[in-house]
Amino acid sequence: MLQDKDNFDVEQSFKAGLYQAELFWRRMGSRPDFTDKDVLEIGSGLGALSVSIAQQGARRVLGLDVWAPRVATAVDLVASHYPDLRSVAFAATPSTEFAGEALFDIVVSQNTFEHVSDVAAVLASIRRLLRPGGKAYIGFSPLYHSPFGDHSELRAPIKLPWLHLIAGRKRVIAAFNRANDMNVETLVACGYNGCTPRQFDQAFATCGLDIKSRRVNPTEGGLKNLAMMTFRALARLPGLEPYFTVGLYFVLQKPEASTDVG
Ligand SMILES: C[S@@+](CC[C@H](N)C(=O)[O-])C[C@H]1O[C@@H](n2cnc3c(N)ncnc32)[C@H](O)[C@@H]1O
Repeated sequence: MLQDKDNFDVEQSFKAGLYQAELFWRRMGSRPDFTDKDVLEIGSGLGALSVSIAQQGARRVLGLDVWAPRVATAVDLVASHYPDLRSVAFAATPSTEFAGEALFDIVVSQNTFEHVSDVAAVLASIRRLLRPGGKAYIGFSPLYHSPFGDHSELRAPIKLPWLHLIAGRKRVIAAFNRANDMNVETLVACGYNGCTPRQFDQAFATCGLDIKSRRVNPTEGGLKNLAMMTFRALARLPGLEPYFTVGLYFVLQKPEASTDVG
């Protein structure tokens, strides 16, 4: 299998990830105090967010990702760049299969929920793994129906907003198969759940965690901010929500006295 290092500059992406981690908290609206906390990251990728949280004084940070080669790259990056940072570890285990309950004070997840195949199952695992009163910070973009929600998977010669929706899922899947020499049949198998904002909202509202905040399209920078404000307004018009909701940022909390759901 082709490794990350053959596809892109891993070192540079990791550095960009450290910067992205700062933006993540700005978009979220607040950054928790990680001092002495046990933290779980879901979809840790190259590990930059986990590293930055460990550097902020967390007692333990565990980054989980379902893609084993990427987990191996994260382990190598931390070993070579942060040999003294012992509080961070990574594992290629889905959170749904990670045993135990009430193990973490904080769960974070960045730009992963548009990829997970079963949103409700991952949310249930977060609820199980959080301690009562613990919080989950889950932010992700771009959603599939937003202007570039296919993450360029269509590989069209020109980049046009919503082109992947006009082209249709079959063409997106075919382009994915050509590029990766694969033969999958569904969007989920390409790594995108294709959920609409309404489907995400439904899953978040029924997962047994309290929704403390929900932000739509938070971003930074003058022009980008203006564009996203306009998108937010358009997303409120009937029928347009999926097309103008680019990012969703949730803060959730596990109730202190937890009742069982499902
Ligand atoms: C776009 S990358 C984001 C990585 C990192 N969070 C970042 O922001 O750079 C999405 C990651 O989610 C992982 N992923 C997809 N489904 C997952 C799941 N159910 N549990 C954990 N990781 C998952 C993928 O393997 C991939 O590494």
